[in-house]
Amino acid sequence: MPSIRSLIPFVGLALTALLQVTSAIPTPVISTAAGVDDCPDFPSGVATPTVPVDGASGDLPTTNLTLVAVAIGRGIQNYTCAAANSTGVAIGAIATLYDATPVAMADEATLNTLPALAVFEALPAAGAPLTVSGHTFPRIGNHFFDIAGTPTFELTALNKVLFGLKADSVTAPTGSSEGPDGTAAVAWLYLTAHTGYTSVGLTEAYRVETAGGSATACTEAGVISVQYSAQYWFYN
Ligand SMILES: *[C@@H]1O[C@H](CO)[C@@H](O)[C@H](O)[C@H]1NC(C)=O
Ligand SMILES: *[C@@H]1O[C@H](CO)[C@@H](O)[C@H](O)[C@H]1NC(C)=O
Ligand SMILES: *[C@@H]1O[C@H](CO)[C@@H](O)[C@H](O)[C@H]1NC(C)=O
Repeated sequence: MPSIRSLIPFVGLALTALLQVTSAIPTPVISTAAGVDDCPDFPSGVATPTVPVDGASGDLPTTNLTLVAVAIGRGIQNYTCAAANSTGVAIGAIATLYDATPVAMADEATLNTLPALAVFEALPAAGAPLTVSGHTFPRIGNHFFDIAGTPTFELTALNKVLFGLKADSVTAPTGSSEGPDGTAAVAWLYLTAHTGYTSVGLTEAYRVETAGGSATACTEAGVISVQYSAQYWFYN
């Protein structure tokens, strides 16, 4: 099987072929050589897509780093309730990340429709791809909070990991999907690498185009889980 690197010169390669090759990679691809495009899915000569901006309540800071991957996250946001009628307190998220980089490259308008659709899809079985809107997205990794509450992004398919620190947030735009639980879309975020950890191959991330995920009403003491989806953009 040809390596992804050797395919990069073939700019005309059809998107579908890229998707097939990407999902067929049996081993992690790591790009460390200076000057080599950090993202194996990016053919040269194609404009790098940019993070959506949120005109409604201000924009997140821009980045001058290199785009590594774009993922669709699909999972849950957890909250603790102290008692009935208390306000849920966020305690983290658990999500599977699916590689949407080829769609980001080819059609950002379609990319931006995906979280509002994915949030209504059942979570695929472990390891299975996510299928939304006729596109199939292979699993690229996981998002979770570690024991210290640090948002962690493991892009296992790329051998990269980001231990994040929330650096900025803006309210999701009015009209964002509320998802199946009928609560507001969680905020759009800008995360930088947590200096207390050693991230590998990733320095910044954005969470944008969110759907659902805000706390539902507390009906008793305990943990509540709320369905959500979002785009995650990773930079290095
Ligand atoms: C990139 O952005 C960082 C943080 O915003 C800044 O410190 C740095 O000087 C910038 N680098 C370049 C080359 O613009
Ligand atoms: C929670 O609020 C509802 C509606 O206001 C009320 O009927 C109920 O008694 C409250 N429960 C508690 C435990 O305060
Ligand atoms: C979040 O809630 C789910 C159940 O919906 C549970 O399996 C998981 O352990 C919870 N995670 C945290 C960090 O509370």
